[in-house]
Amino acid sequence: MHGWLGHESEVHDGWVTVAELSDLAESQPHGADVLGHPVVLVRLGDEVHAVDGYCPHRGMPLTDGKMAGTAIACIWHGFEYDVRSGELVWPEAGGCLQVPVYVTRIVEGSVEVRVRLA
Ligand code: FES
Repeated sequence: MHGWLGHESEVHDGWVTVAELSDLAESQPHGADVLGHPVVLVRLGDEVHAVDGYCPHRGMPLTDGKMAGTAIACIWHGFEYDVRSGELVWPEAGGCLQVPVYVTRIVEGSVEVRVRLA
């Protein structure tokens, strides 16, 4: 399942609306496009976390990842990243890999991601 594609005209003060909170199931990865870049949204309670859509291990999509607590597990080789911080939680010997995280906010039921335009 993927969210809608953003356009530069849809950036308001550095924020892009990417989903409606009510459309996000608890602890279920939800793929979304932010200005053409894939991100994965994960709702944990009243908060929504956003991580990059590409796994930093080998660059495969994280959008099909499975949640284990607060971590998303990449289906390709099983690496797990905490969606709150982006930190690698498995394997322990995985070095300093980290998936980028994006700042989010919820405004009147809409989930917004902060972006920077070049
Ligand atoms: S590409 Fe994600 S764990 Fe290898």
